[in-house]
Amino acid sequence: MPGRFLVLEGVDGAGKSSQVERLRHWLPRSGLMPAGARLLVTREPGGTPLGEQLYPILLSRRLTVHSRAELLLFAADRAQHVEAVIRPALNAGHWVVSDRFSGSTVAYQGYGRGCDLDLVHTLEQVATGGLTPDLTLWLDLPPQQARARKSPQGQDRFEGAGLDFAQRVAHGFRQLARERGWRRIPAGEACAAVEAAIQAATRSAFAA
Ligand code: TYD
Repeated sequence: MPGRFLVLEGVDGAGKSSQVERLRHWLPRSGLMPAGARLLVTREPGGTPLGEQLYPILLSRRLTVHSRAELLLFAADRAQHVEAVIRPALNAGHWVVSDRFSGSTVAYQGYGRGCDLDLVHTLEQVATGGLTPDLTLWLDLPPQQARARKSPQGQDRFEGAGLDFAQRVAHGFRQLARERGWRRIPAGEACAAVEAAIQAATRSAFAA
């Protein structure tokens, strides 16, 4: 039986990375995964050796990168990630949790940068080879609140892109959640409450 593919999405500062760590601990003990299935935790950008090389290019504030070039670089990162990491793990019956997936490209490059949405969706098909998550958990936090959690030092190209950009991205996530049936997780609560909401949503999606 193929494994299951879970994705966390949301604006910068929504708390995805710490919730991914909590899932890493909880999911194998949850009783949801069949015997023999392992959990693989990964992320975009950067979940492969190629992605590790692309990561500093994608996030550098010193480089000028045209929005269509940025779109293609994220697509390249994803194609490699799907074929080298995610699909083989799922085919072997393992479960995969990814910190971001193709929804981030629709939100950031489509809604945020203004790349043509038809082009973004076409490229999404190319990059994913048609692979879609079994469950997407959308950590919903207003961009003003999310930004307040991040220090202004060491901001990457997206964190430093301004509140208007962040608001367009947040709007993109809201649209996607509606169109794609994502599970909304209110992310302004205490960490433990967000974790409990994630566990409840995961159980309701996967309990036999
Ligand atoms: P992020 O998950 O914040 O990584 P880290 O925790 O290492 O900073 O992702 C880095 C940035 O990349 C984030 O601002 C969102 C952006 N991004 C896109 O613009 N498009 C994409 O397709 C992906 C996956 C990420």
